[in-house]
Amino acid sequence: MEFELKNIKELTASLEWQIKMGADAMVDNKINKPTSEKIENKVDLELKNIPEMPPKLKPSDITIENNNNEKIQKKIEECNTLDQLKNAMQNFNGCELKKTATQLVFSDGNPNSKLMLIGEAPGAEEDRQGKPFCGASGQLLDKMLNAINLNRESVYITNVIPWRPPGNRTPSDNEIKIMKPFLIKHIEIVMPKIIVAVGGSAAKAVLSIEGGILRHRGEWKEFKLSSGKTIPIIATLHPAYLLRAPNQKKLAWEDLKHIRSKLND
Ligand code: URA
Repeated sequence: MEFELKNIKELTASLEWQIKMGADAMVDNKINKPTSEKIENKVDLELKNIPEMPPKLKPSDITIENNNNEKIQKKIEECNTLDQLKNAMQNFNGCELKKTATQLVFSDGNPNSKLMLIGEAPGAEEDRQGKPFCGASGQLLDKMLNAINLNRESVYITNVIPWRPPGNRTPSDNEIKIMKPFLIKHIEIVMPKIIVAVGGSAAKAVLSIEGGILRHRGEWKEFKLSSGKTIPIIATLHPAYLLRAPNQKKLAWEDLKHIRSKLND
């Protein structure tokens, strides 16, 4: 197939931009599975002078903001069970992350648990297995839970975003905003005794905090449901951050002790 020069330029700029945004694999749209070919093998790219893409293609805008759409709100409101919610999320096309992910990553653990952990978004391993926190940070999370006599069978785990962001980039504020009504419904269905926001994105989503996680972790706050009922919530450091900054584990340990004692109340 022959491309006009203009088309080749646009195509190259688009691929360069995708790499800059963290895309690290090609996805076959028909079967929605990553192929083994890396994008960087496809195109000879000069990464130093990446041109800016037109504003209309930046991530905050490519994600269709249609959560105000009454139909979607109604669909979410109609969900009374986790299966119904999972199904509603599977059928939701308002978040572009769905297109590049292999599958929806919904939850893991015990839905009858008193403790609901909310992480950020699936990584590569979670995207492959369809299960939250099953990669390297999941292994550390398991150790953290074991330290206060908990495990996968005694907690319930989900993420703010159910689809892997390309290249594991942090979800944008708009992506968090779009998926938040599903998360709130998720909390309302599970109705845990305690919520733990794992990392900054989760804290941002459920606590609407200003500023970084280090400022807000380790403090009990109230998560208010539409019914007026409140659930105690605490933010803690993300295991992926602790893997990069192990000297901060002592702060996470403080948070874990708060969680243990609240569960014992
Ligand atoms: N990090 C998260 O926040 N969630 C996962 O499921 C995996 C890694």
